[in-house]
Amino acid sequence: MNSEKPKNEINRRKFLQHTVKFAAAGMYLGAFGMPELFANEIINTGKGAAGIPDVKLNNGVKMPMLGFGTYGLSGEVCQQSVKEAISAGYRLLDTAKVYGNEEAVGRGIKESGIPRKELFVTSKLWVDDAGYETAKKGFEETLRKLQLDYLDLYLIHRPRGDVKGSWKAMEELYQAGKIKAIGISNFDPVQLADLLSYAKVKPVINQIETHAYFQQNNDFKVLKQHNIHMEAWAPFAEGRNGLFTDEVLTQIAKKYNKTTAQVSLRWHFQRGIVAIPRSSQKAHIVENLDIFDFKLADADMKAIEQLDLNKTQFPEWS
Ligand SMILES: NC(=O)c1ccc[n+]([C@@H]2O[C@H](COP(=O)([O-])OP(=O)(O)OC[C@H]3O[C@@H](n4cnc5c(N)ncnc54)[C@H](OP(=O)(O)O)[C@@H]3O)[C@@H](O)[C@H]2O)c1
Repeated sequence: MNSEKPKNEINRRKFLQHTVKFAAAGMYLGAFGMPELFANEIINTGKGAAGIPDVKLNNGVKMPMLGFGTYGLSGEVCQQSVKEAISAGYRLLDTAKVYGNEEAVGRGIKESGIPRKELFVTSKLWVDDAGYETAKKGFEETLRKLQLDYLDLYLIHRPRGDVKGSWKAMEELYQAGKIKAIGISNFDPVQLADLLSYAKVKPVINQIETHAYFQQNNDFKVLKQHNIHMEAWAPFAEGRNGLFTDEVLTQIAKKYNKTTAQVSLRWHFQRGIVAIPRSSQKAHIVENLDIFDFKLADADMKAIEQLDLNKTQFPEWS
């Protein structure tokens, strides 16, 4: 009897500790308006730059919930914008071979003076490099251009060509520790199912077009079922279809004394989706980070839901 008592006590203590942890997590998530679907994965280190919470990916790696996109930035402007973004507090940087700016992103990173381990760098394997051998070469080229010796996240940019060969190469690079997490981009649920039929390592992320006008509700549910996180590219739809002056977003923005850009990013965050807005203007770079001191009410989240056109705003890329 006596020998059992302490054991039970320890179990009870452990149980209580866990309960307290869950309660604390619940309070935190409540305070941040975490969404139903991805809520359990969002964590607050409380120490992140600019107060950006992390998400714990399905392999345990932590990724910032808000990052900096670099599509369309090149040369000096890219280098400077990356440096400014890091200085403002971004830690997640998103580039790709096809953007032609990995060297400039790498220089911006170097110049920032922030230790490598504090950054989260994503790049993507382009279609031309699809296949086992070519993917490995493509990856080495990306590392070289970025002047890095590992990537935090490497994505198959588009589901084209020999995806199976590319994934095998990425799995090996992941297992060798050259990439901390591997994922995909622009995969629809059917293409994802195909990849999952042979993958030994599950993707951590699917980066897809997501914004108020294309909310991707079906993909959102499918990804959640697989415990694969969703990341929004073009979180502002690049301003297409008048997103920055949208009447509903403008009204909501006024209510919180924020901009339509900030309301858009806050909406992504409350859905639990990682967003990677891009800007070449310092004022916008800073503005886009300032989304962690307010919470959109349910009614406002619902009003934004109504804006969904369920249609890509980038038909030229489909
Ligand atoms: N995986 C893929 O296939 C894929 C495809 C597209 C993009 N991406 C990634 O996703 C990132 C984001 O997407 P994106 O760059 O296409 O578009 P985006 O982030 O939706 O929009 C960028 C545009 O918004 C403007 N902007 C930024 N902040 C603003 C603010 N606070 N107020 C007003 N305007 C603002 C920028 O102009 P200023 O420079 O003037 O601020 C720029 O013209 C890319 O950079 C890239 O890293 C991935």
